Amino acid sequence: MCGIVGSVSSKTNIISILLDGLKTLEYRGYDSAGISYIKDGNLIINKVKGRVKDLEDNIKKESNVTIGIAHTRWATHGKVNETNAHPHNVGNVTIVHNGIIENFSKLKHKLKEKGYEFKSQSDTEIAAGLLDYYYKKYKNIDKTIQKFIKKVDGSYAICMLLNNDPDTIYVIKKDSPLIIGKGENINFIASDVPAILKYTKKYYILEDYEYGKITCNNITIYDKDGNVLKKDLKEYQGSDLSSDKGIYEHYMLKEILEQPSTIRKTVNPYINNIQDLLKLPDLTKYERIDIIACGTAMHAGLAAKYLFEQYSNTKCEVSLASEYRYQNNFLNNKVLSIFISQSGETADTLAALKKVKEAKCDTLGIVNVKESSIARTLDKVLYTEAGTEIAVASTKAYTSQVALLSVLALSNAYRKNLIKEEKINKILEEFRSVSSILNSLLESTNTYEKIAKEIYQKSDIFYIGRTIDYALAMEGSLKLKEISYIHSEAYAAGELKHGTISLITENTPVFASATDKHINAKTISNLKEVISRGAKCYLITDEDIKEDNIKVIKIKKVSMFIKPLLTIIPYQLIAYYTAKLKGCDIDKPRNLAKSVTVE
Ligand code: AGP
Repeated sequence: MCGIVGSVSSKTNIISILLDGLKTLEYRGYDSAGISYIKDGNLIINKVKGRVKDLEDNIKKESNVTIGIAHTRWATHGKVNETNAHPHNVGNVTIVHNGIIENFSKLKHKLKEKGYEFKSQSDTEIAAGLLDYYYKKYKNIDKTIQKFIKKVDGSYAICMLLNNDPDTIYVIKKDSPLIIGKGENINFIASDVPAILKYTKKYYILEDYEYGKITCNNITIYDKDGNVLKKDLKEYQGSDLSSDKGIYEHYMLKEILEQPSTIRKTVNPYINNIQDLLKLPDLTKYERIDIIACGTAMHAGLAAKYLFEQYSNTKCEVSLASEYRYQNNFLNNKVLSIFISQSGETADTLAALKKVKEAKCDTLGIVNVKESSIARTLDKVLYTEAGTEIAVASTKAYTSQVALLSVLALSNAYRKNLIKEEKINKILEEFRSVSSILNSLLESTNTYEKIAKEIYQKSDIFYIGRTIDYALAMEGSLKLKEISYIHSEAYAAGELKHGTISLITENTPVFASATDKHINAKTISNLKEVISRGAKCYLITDEDIKEDNIKVIKIKKVSMFIKPLLTIIPYQLIAYYTAKLKGCDIDKPRNLAKSVTVE
């Protein structure tokens, strides 16, 4: 997943527009950055290994540049270095690309037979070579692009400049997102809308196998056969990017502390009374609910599974989208497939969704980014209202996903007469006071900082739990791994003794949560098993538990529909303070990107 920006104007200098856009898109990947523009008839390329800031420092203060393309990279093919950075130029063609050219080896072999030589390990350079080859052969850009679309397998969002055409940017799209922004005597191209929001809110969405020609005052979009398409001009409805961290050192901390309000904003329409709760879709006709997602979004699904099954007596299967898309899914009209995605652009989740749509089965989405590719493909979407999540490690989006799924499970339980009105009204009241419940947890920072000091130099840390607490252990472990780079593993508490307990040694940190009263005693026993082997244990619980060698972090006694929203807070903040002690890049951890738009 990479970030792409392009712009062509009648007279505005577009260099700062491209750099601004890249900075907004750095959440998509930040291994390297590059820019290419045409000035006085010359095509210039400038690219660096490193962040957009490094590129900015590297670019002369160019003036009168009216056409250019730019790119920030998350490496898929080839090392992180300047040679593999985009843009890539071959002959007349210079491109930036987001996606994976799956048949690039075969194409590379054929192009080398035609005399082409390549400098990089990147599949994008091969794409540039193929476009150059066809352009030289047909001397017609439409035929060139149409041939490219036929020949190439994989995913691509491509912005292209031609040496001999200083007025036009060409775009080609399949699977990877690409939008075209419309201005006054200036037009834009970007991987997604936030990159150009400063300049326009009006944009076209490119669909698969479409290509376009963009000049300063004209946008023409074609289908794969070269027929001109009439596209709807959209107006961005999301909120403007809150692009500053304000008083916070990191976006992640800001976003953790925003959770009381983002959770409340997300569930607000459904928690004033039972009548409002029943505004949520009626799921009672379904015998099974499948939840499909990746990473943290999948962990939200795991928590929801417990609530759907335990309280609304509905079978719920949770799958990793990257596995689901290649499996037999036993779909039928009694199955609802719920897709969870913060970005709404995750390639595996989108591919799994398209598979369910092809099977003509029902889909529902829990999505944060409005009008994203996944949102546009779903039958129905329930939007989380977490706002723009900048930190790569998801926190506020996760709790908004869990909260929305929780009220959905609650509404399902009520519709199936499995929960009494009195109980449901009590739970709705808890949702209405979730902000104050969370704030007291969020304020105990010294507790989390103290624990961080005890663990930040450890090399292996374990998270265990049973039933819903196992889902929370998965998310707690991922938070720690992705921002502190400490190896961590989440395990079903009852399973640890079947092998992995051999890894427990003196002072190995083991985290657990015990919030399901039916089974807490078992989790405590599992903690005692690891303590007897030297582990140092930390337990998040709402029960009055006092045990030697267990540091207890107490949370408020609330219903199971709310508890996951509390349990995760210590896990998030312990991960944050641990990463901070280690001096890690908390908002942009190494190797990661915010939206994984490649499979
Ligand atoms: C979360 O901390 C990670 N950044 C990652 O696991 C993320 O949740 C996953 O890539 C799914 O992204 P999505 O919600 O945008 O689909």
